[in-house]
Amino acid sequence: MLSDTEIIKADIGHAFEVHDLELNSFDTGKAWTLKMVLDGFNSPNFKCYILRRFDEIVGYIAYLDLGGEYEIQRLVVSKEWRRYGCATRLLQFVANLADINMATDLILDVSHLNQPALFLYTKFGFYPDGLRKQYYGREEDAVLMRKKI
Ligand SMILES: CC(C)(COP(=O)(O)OP(=O)(O)OC[C@H]1O[C@@H](n2cnc3c(N)ncnc32)[C@H](O)[C@@H]1OP(=O)(O)O)[C@@H](O)C(=O)NCCC(=O)NCCS
Repeated sequence: MLSDTEIIKADIGHAFEVHDLELNSFDTGKAWTLKMVLDGFNSPNFKCYILRRFDEIVGYIAYLDLGGEYEIQRLVVSKEWRRYGCATRLLQFVANLADINMATDLILDVSHLNQPALFLYTKFGFYPDGLRKQYYGREEDAVLMRKKI
């Protein structure tokens, strides 16, 4: 399946497709609104790459290029295409870019309740680097994670 995919750089022209993926990928009210997607594309240092399979967006990754650190803001794979290695492929792509551009670390925060993402990031080599209590709500902490390039 992954052999049928390609990674392309996204711009604001992809905002509606990215937003559709957001809406289809979260059960609760955690999807980014269209405004949040547009704000992202309008932010300095915001970069976004989408994994496309023919006409379909299978997943996307968005990050902030902070110079020495790349902060992953979003990583989403459509429900139909999970556990095929898509997220790993997108992470590897960004890790390679970080390496080429001399960044030293990938960083992110993730809900302590998001077991799939915690497993994914741990398998990819991220380690816990702090905790923000109640960052996502009264009962939801943020785990800060870091990976050295
Ligand atoms: C988390 C997410 C991005 C994973 O995408 P994916 O393409 O399915 O991940 P991969 O196929 O690359 O998985 C790599 C490894 O991560 C771990 N993993 C991924 N999903 C998992 C799950 N549901 N349960 C347990 N482990 C999981 C496994 O170790 C997996 O390796 P394996 O399949 O060989 O066992 C996807 O589930 C998703 O989009 N979730 C909703 C959005 C989200 O929570 N994003 C992250 C925070 S922004």
